[in-house]
Amino acid sequence: MSTSTINRSSGSATAEPRGSRHLTQTLQGMATSDGAGVKLSRIIGQPGLPDLDPFLMLDAFNSDDPDAYIAGFPPHPHRGFETVTYMLAGAMRHRDNKGNVGLLGPGALQWMTAGRGIVHSEMPEQRDGLMRGFQLWLNLPARDKMCAPHYRDIAAEEIPSVQLTKEVRAKVLAGRIAGVRGAVEREATAPLLLDIVAEPGAMFGIGLPLDDTAFLYPYEGELMVGSGNAAKPLEQEWLGVLSKGDSLSLKAGAAGARLLLAAARPLQEPIAKYGPFVMTTEAEIKQAIDDFRADRF
Ligand code: CO
Repeated sequence: MSTSTINRSSGSATAEPRGSRHLTQTLQGMATSDGAGVKLSRIIGQPGLPDLDPFLMLDAFNSDDPDAYIAGFPPHPHRGFETVTYMLAGAMRHRDNKGNVGLLGPGALQWMTAGRGIVHSEMPEQRDGLMRGFQLWLNLPARDKMCAPHYRDIAAEEIPSVQLTKEVRAKVLAGRIAGVRGAVEREATAPLLLDIVAEPGAMFGIGLPLDDTAFLYPYEGELMVGSGNAAKPLEQEWLGVLSKGDSLSLKAGAAGARLLLAAARPLQEPIAKYGPFVMTTEAEIKQAIDDFRADRF
């Protein structure tokens, strides 16, 4: 039970408004490498936070050293969930075994529903400069895990943005906020994914569905999260997991902030994970391995 609930039911005096979200866990990414040796920070999907239903993984990559990224992610499979890739800098070429090809440039979004199976490669297209972005894995409900694969990429200029206040602007990667429909809308988990830029000291609030899972990741600058007595700082490149609640109060630090805000409806289903396969039972994992080996993706 959250402290805000305790405060409400006991009727004790608190400055925290009803339904206001606060931080329940903060953690830093774990340095690791994946693919053919791409150095990255694993934020969700590590021992400190194995998953955050329905989010299965969040990786951040940020390097100006080509040796840290140039080998990329050669062909590999996925089954049972969606991969969401958002580039801040650099360029990544996607190819898959369904005939899709895409080039993700700075600010572009790729939304891939792996469904019953896809084999793709994600390869950097540059030898100099910065490669920076995120990959988020979003689970599919059991009933949709074997759906047909689907691929979309959305150029930076096609991503809607919204002025939340005079000092705060957001790119609406997914979901709906302030009457603006994002680049992607998904039914089962109804994800909201925002890339927010806030000016120094900007205070702002965001309404969220009461029971959705939500997290914040300030990738530049820091934030105060929550309101009243429950307000706590969240440092740059720390993930903040939020309590349930229908509102969120934020204040950007003295240098301003750029952050990801993600929220989605939890699936509350069992998770069976094996590398790039995420299903609900071990038998389905075994089937995924067999199918991949037999070239049935
Ligand atoms: Co992949």
